[in-house]
Amino acid sequence: MPYVVPGRFNEKVAFLTGAGSGIGRATALRLSAEGAEVFLHDVNAESLAETVSMITADGGTAVSRVGDVSERGECVAAIDEAIEAFGRLDVLANIAGIAGAFHFTEMTEAQYRRMVAINMDAPFFFCQAAIPHLLASDGNIVNIASNAGLMGQAYTTAYCMTKGAVVQLTRSLAMEFAKTTLRVNAIAPGGIVTNLTHNFQFPSEIDFELMTPYMGFRGQGEADDIAELVALVAAPGSTNIHGAIFSSDRGITAG
Ligand SMILES: NC(=O)c1ccc[n+]([C@@H]2O[C@H](COP(=O)([O-])OP(=O)(O)OC[C@H]3O[C@@H](n4cnc5c(N)ncnc54)[C@H](O)[C@@H]3O)[C@@H](O)[C@H]2O)c1
Repeated sequence: MPYVVPGRFNEKVAFLTGAGSGIGRATALRLSAEGAEVFLHDVNAESLAETVSMITADGGTAVSRVGDVSERGECVAAIDEAIEAFGRLDVLANIAGIAGAFHFTEMTEAQYRRMVAINMDAPFFFCQAAIPHLLASDGNIVNIASNAGLMGQAYTTAYCMTKGAVVQLTRSLAMEFAKTTLRVNAIAPGGIVTNLTHNFQFPSEIDFELMTPYMGFRGQGEADDIAELVALVAAPGSTNIHGAIFSSDRGITAG
């Protein structure tokens, strides 16, 4: 784990969704290694328990909760449980998400609603539940958007819509809370090697040429690349960073 800043998050509590895998797990390990106590959330009990074990094996403190973020009640209850466990909240990292590719006219309503509920509704409700606590701690929010939230992409219209919404959630909260100490930022990764990309399936009969603009030329990044940026953005000393959308995509959105 390169560039760990020991003690940067001492006495801080971070709440992370999607902590069972990929970017969420890497970020949980990073923030813990830098001193944070972490509250970890995921729908996958087994992989979440693995993340907790990795943290406690390294001497960190982690409390976890299994739940489905597509339910507003779960988002609120999870934040409440984190406050009960640690008594404070300094960082909310909205990381859980799903992706999927479809011919636009073939995506079912159920597939569409689930993607919106997980990728867009959940960050909204987690922010609502967490902000009173973050205001009390001079805390901050880091939302994981995507390069897909910054550009149009064939076959992933709903995913692009939800990630664009995460970008606008971030900017709008940055404005609404501009006169407070709350900081709200987003990171927009390009392709990252995780279960999400590993399991990604394209529908049949697609025109791959339409996708070349968002494939890039430099391959995929690692979950640690994003974890490192989350740590930088969320760090207590990063007071100048507010309302920003950071691309970490090997240049995909540059052109
Ligand atoms: N991997 C990439 O290339 C990439 C690029 C841009 C943005 N992102 C975003 O990064 C975030 C993390 O993705 P990842 O690549 O680490 O994927 P991942 O599949 O490795 O991890 C996502 C985690 O979210 C959890 N999750 C999914 N649905 C859930 C639900 N309903 N309730 C609770 N937890 C749920 C999963 O169980 C999993 O542990 C997502 O928001 C994704 O859209 C990923």
